[in-house]
Amino acid sequence: MKALITAGGHGTRLRPITHTQNKHLIPIANKPILNYALEYVKEAGIRQVGIITNKDSSEVSRVYGDGRRMGLSITYIPQESPSGLADCVRIAEPFLGTEPFVFYLGDNIIVGGIKRFINEFNSNKSNCHLVLAKVPDPERFGVPEIKDNRIIRIDEKPKKPRSDYAVTGIYIYDSSIFKAVNSIKPSARGELEISDAHQYLIDKGLTITYSEITGWWKDTGKPNDLLEANRLVLDNISTKIIGHADKNSQISGRVIIEKGCEIQNSNIRGPVIIGAGTKIINAYIGPYTSIERNCTIKDSEIEYSIVSEDCEITDQKIRIEASLLGKGVKITEAKLKPFTNRFIIGDQSIVEIR
Ligand code: DAU
Repeated sequence: MKALITAGGHGTRLRPITHTQNKHLIPIANKPILNYALEYVKEAGIRQVGIITNKDSSEVSRVYGDGRRMGLSITYIPQESPSGLADCVRIAEPFLGTEPFVFYLGDNIIVGGIKRFINEFNSNKSNCHLVLAKVPDPERFGVPEIKDNRIIRIDEKPKKPRSDYAVTGIYIYDSSIFKAVNSIKPSARGELEISDAHQYLIDKGLTITYSEITGWWKDTGKPNDLLEANRLVLDNISTKIIGHADKNSQISGRVIIEKGCEIQNSNIRGPVIIGAGTKIINAYIGPYTSIERNCTIKDSEIEYSIVSEDCEITDQKIRIEASLLGKGVKITEAKLKPFTNRFIIGDQSIVEIR
């Protein structure tokens, strides 16, 4: 079995971070989001992976190369424009061939892996196996209508959802999906919708089965989703301290402190991960915070946040919380009078000041 993973699209809901970075490379617990998808397919025994990328972008391939480092064989499939998930499947047909395959949206994170869904697909002899999750806001997703344990209809982002389930971004198909993605027409928003391809299969009487996710699942579409995904992944880490903490520092809870970290006179309250070479001085790092490598946090407090590599946070009087910092961000105290707030920030940034 092969896997097809998406890493293209616009990432509009995650601007400004996605102005300069592919959203699938944003770190969750100090690993790019896409790592999770690659690890799950590998854990399910799959080695041949196709990754959909935006045309003319080598960002993802520069990170993962031919996949050998992760024990995978990766083929990159450039998409002309982000014109829908069914288009991703359509253009990947030459790579996928006629065998069943897993289609995995690279911005989804799930606990417990995907092997069990593949087993269900095989034992049910399905044409298409969908993975559903109960959500409070189904109007953001593909939504199934279920009757007598069968999916009888699927709507994409409906205003009036017919159930409180979302179709998550994990799908297993046999080759009948290719007829579907080549037969449907673009939706009102101009995309070839995967939900329309599923509806096509239902209308043709093919076998669609489903599993329900009982643990957690996150579609990391919006900044708050990223913070939640980070929280959920950090909830499952085990303590590993390689870097150095001085005797004036207090470390509690589950904490990963990587090589070359220097912690001085600080309070680290896990779950927290701190990347290689980062310096934490006279600071408080609170629960559910991920700080990537080569950052400096000094005379400041931060909690429930994601800090990308090479950031500097110094002399902050008010605790930073629920924040998402891109690479190389500096937050510091004004040193000269007049004491004003000064901002040098890119397009579509969000700043909330007390
Ligand atoms: O996460 C589950 C949801 O994913 C489903 O419930 C919906 O039915 C499905 O349409 C999809 O909705 P989203 O609005 O969340 O899809 P999004 O545009 O965010 O794209 C999902 C992934 O696919 C993400 O990794 C970006 C990538 N992508 C997207 C498009 C439209 C591509 O690589 N190419 C594309 O053309």
